[in-house]
Amino acid sequence: MKTLAIVGASGHGKVVADLAELCGFNVTFFDDAFPQLKQVEHWPVKGSFTDLLTQQDCYQYAIVAIGNNAIRSKLSEQLIESGFNLPVLIHPSAIVSQYAHINEGSVVFANAVINAFAQIGENCIINTGAIIEHDCIIANGVHLSPKVSLAGATKVGAATWLGIGSVTKQGIEIGANSIIGANATVLNNIPSNVTVVGSPAVSK
Ligand SMILES: CC(C)(COP(=O)(O)OP(=O)(O)OC[C@H]1O[C@@H](n2cnc3c(N)ncnc32)[C@H](O)[C@@H]1OP(=O)(O)O)[C@@H](O)C(=O)NCCC(=O)NCCS
Repeated sequence: MKTLAIVGASGHGKVVADLAELCGFNVTFFDDAFPQLKQVEHWPVKGSFTDLLTQQDCYQYAIVAIGNNAIRSKLSEQLIESGFNLPVLIHPSAIVSQYAHINEGSVVFANAVINAFAQIGENCIINTGAIIEHDCIIANGVHLSPKVSLAGATKVGAATWLGIGSVTKQGIEIGANSIIGANATVLNNIPSNVTVVGSPAVSK
């Protein structure tokens, strides 16, 4: 069986570990935050991120399971530069169109739906029950929280985070590094580097 090195042994890391097992991997964690940690649930913690970078000969596959979009993107780039393969993990209950495209290092959790001609960037989190309609373009490092619904042809810029239950009107463009609050309704384009909340969503 293939082994997947997962960077980040927090709550999100455990969900990714569960998903990785469903996708046929053995799981080993690497985590910088708790150097003394040897085990999380039944999964071993073998060392830090730096330790992993020196063990490319042992671990062909690796993925970053850290919720912070900027950190996840940065560490994922380092893994790719060091020669690791970053798989795409898709939960068996997710529905992904044969015409959708998902790039390396992205995870798609239970009951998510990704419709025809949607494009998902690298190292994205498509969380539980998220819906990505036709022709959406999701850039690298985006996190769609549980139950986010993107109407057709929505564009989301790199490293933007959409909070749980937020929704967009069709054709909306959201910039990079922005935060869309939980339950927000996005009816107008949103620039980069802002936080918006409410219905309709406005700057906080
Ligand atoms: C938008 C968000 C990031 C802001 O967090 P924050 O900067 O800590 O903001 P605060 O909690 O200090 O709230 C500041 C103000 O914005 C309001 N606000 C915050 N989030 C809001 C939301 N989602 N909808 C409406 N108003 C919101 C607060 O009521 C508060 O208003 P006030 O100043 O009148 O009291 C956060 O509230 C949020 O929605 N996070 C998403 C959580 C999520 O989806 N988690 C799932 C992870 S898988």
